[in-house]
Amino acid sequence: DGVQRLAAFLGRHRQVLVLTGAGLSTASGIPDYRDRDGARRGAAPIQGPDFRRHAAVRKRYWARSMVGWPLLEQARPNAGHHALAELESDGAIASLITQNVDGLHQRAGSVSLTELHGNIHAVVCLDCHAQFPRAFVQTQLERANPAPAGTGALPAPDGDAQLEPGALDDFNVPDCIYCAGTLKPDVVFFGDGVPADRTARALAQIERADALLVVGSSLAVFSGFRFCRMAAASGKPIAAVNLGWTRADDLLELKLAAGAEDVLPMLARVMRAH
Ligand code: OAD
Ligand code: ZN
Repeated sequence: DGVQRLAAFLGRHRQVLVLTGAGLSTASGIPDYRDRDGARRGAAPIQGPDFRRHAAVRKRYWARSMVGWPLLEQARPNAGHHALAELESDGAIASLITQNVDGLHQRAGSVSLTELHGNIHAVVCLDCHAQFPRAFVQTQLERANPAPAGTGALPAPDGDAQLEPGALDDFNVPDCIYCAGTLKPDVVFFGDGVPADRTARALAQIERADALLVVGSSLAVFSGFRFCRMAAASGKPIAAVNLGWTRADDLLELKLAAGAEDVLPMLARVMRAH
């Protein structure tokens, strides 16, 4: 069956690089961005240049993030994250690149990991570059805004959430405690490039790899799709575990349209038995 074929795929290649996306974390209660046909759901994504330029955009971001954070903070790695950490320590996969910002691979114990789009648990000051834990900024947000701004429904990986009408009117955005500068979550927004050192690290991973396994990503965003393009261009085979459509469907040697949280633990068991 599918798991056996995937196990054979891993067995054939010495250095398998795994590229993960939001679909891996849906079983941890964090919704993904696109439906099975690849259509984007939810609010329009924040644009990085707008975040930097407009206080109103930052206000909207932090108001939604304050509401969505508790749900994001309590998310735990699922069986898929744990299986990937096991496959790495067993030597069945070489390393991981994730587009997710939820930090769940780290918590599951993956070691050779590039968080391409950053990590939502960190906040940086755009002016003095100080770093803060997101949990600390949450206490600041709550102190500055004692009345709840929304329902906490529909969190997304960037801490997005539904707001009550008028919630933004007197919402207070905390500044950097050192320099009163602008705080930004340490994640890559649309319109902002991935930092150069991180891109270089990911490119080195793809160069070392001799096969690629995509898990839970539509690859609709070029930042992830480019790794498939590069693998395909150098003749490296690509497999995917993904419920819906992916932009790389016609580049795949093998595709399992199944839940990552179901398939990956079975895969880890089969690999161990070999
Ligand atoms: P998407 O939401 O685009 O894709 C998630 C994919 O996972 C979809 O194709 C789903 O069908 C599939 N899926 C959902 N649940 C699954 C499960 N349990 N098992 C297997 N597959 C499942 O998410 P990404 O491709 O990660 O960027 O999105 C890429 C980037 O777009 C994100 O990193 C973010 C976003 O805008 C930035 O924030 C810069
Ligand atoms: Zn500062």
